[in-house]
Amino acid sequence: MRRKIVAGNWKMNKRFDEAEELISEIADIIDAQPLDEDIEMIICPPFLFLEMATDIASESEFHIGAQNVSEYDAGAYTGEVSAQMLNSIEVEYCIIGHSERRKYFAETDEVLATKINLALANEIEPIFCCGEVLSEREAKIHFDTVRTQIEKGLFHLSPEQFYNVVIAYEPIWAIGTGVVASPAQAQEMHAYIRGLIKEKYGAELAEDTTILYGGSCNADNATVLFSQPDVDGGLIGGASLKAKDFVQIARSF
Ligand code: 13P
Repeated sequence: MRRKIVAGNWKMNKRFDEAEELISEIADIIDAQPLDEDIEMIICPPFLFLEMATDIASESEFHIGAQNVSEYDAGAYTGEVSAQMLNSIEVEYCIIGHSERRKYFAETDEVLATKINLALANEIEPIFCCGEVLSEREAKIHFDTVRTQIEKGLFHLSPEQFYNVVIAYEPIWAIGTGVVASPAQAQEMHAYIRGLIKEKYGAELAEDTTILYGGSCNADNATVLFSQPDVDGGLIGGASLKAKDFVQIARSF
């Protein structure tokens, strides 16, 4: 179902005590003044903090996601965290295919497709990231880049499986740079992505798909981005590390 979602990707930040404080502060703010019912807030802290986070979330109105999941189901894979494990502590979402995972951990489209399958098989909704680097946009091949990422990462899914996927368009040149995509640039790519889904799965499923924008989205620019017809919310990095800013972004629809 198409939803309004604001998800916070904490990346590799915070110590345990700081993480607990930040999540508790977010919970306190939205408990005192709840979000509109049709808005879903998701927090994606590092693995180590997930159980603490799901405990606090169970008493509040937000949801918890992981930032990554193993491409393997179970067994002798030292250091990995499986989708089954995430499911066993009530983690509901998982970011898959973030550009930082693609770049620094050499995650290929094929690996990402496997991760998507394992997440879905374990009742975890993937937040699948796609987006181009600046040189691709300058060369006017950014639509092709995003199309390939989506086709290879997601289009093997059945319509029933695809229904449970959230997409995040994150132009890499906008991540952590303070250079946000213009509302028109975001809308143009989101509409393109929805068009791809329509071609593959039909108009109804395309309309039902939630497509988030990510990349220097903050409390000042969220309202204008979220007012675009095909932008259904945001995947927030830096600004999700400040409780008040993050909640304000969630109130920007
Ligand atoms: P920033 O909001 O810090 O640009 O990060 C975006 C992002 O990568 C979220 O996944």
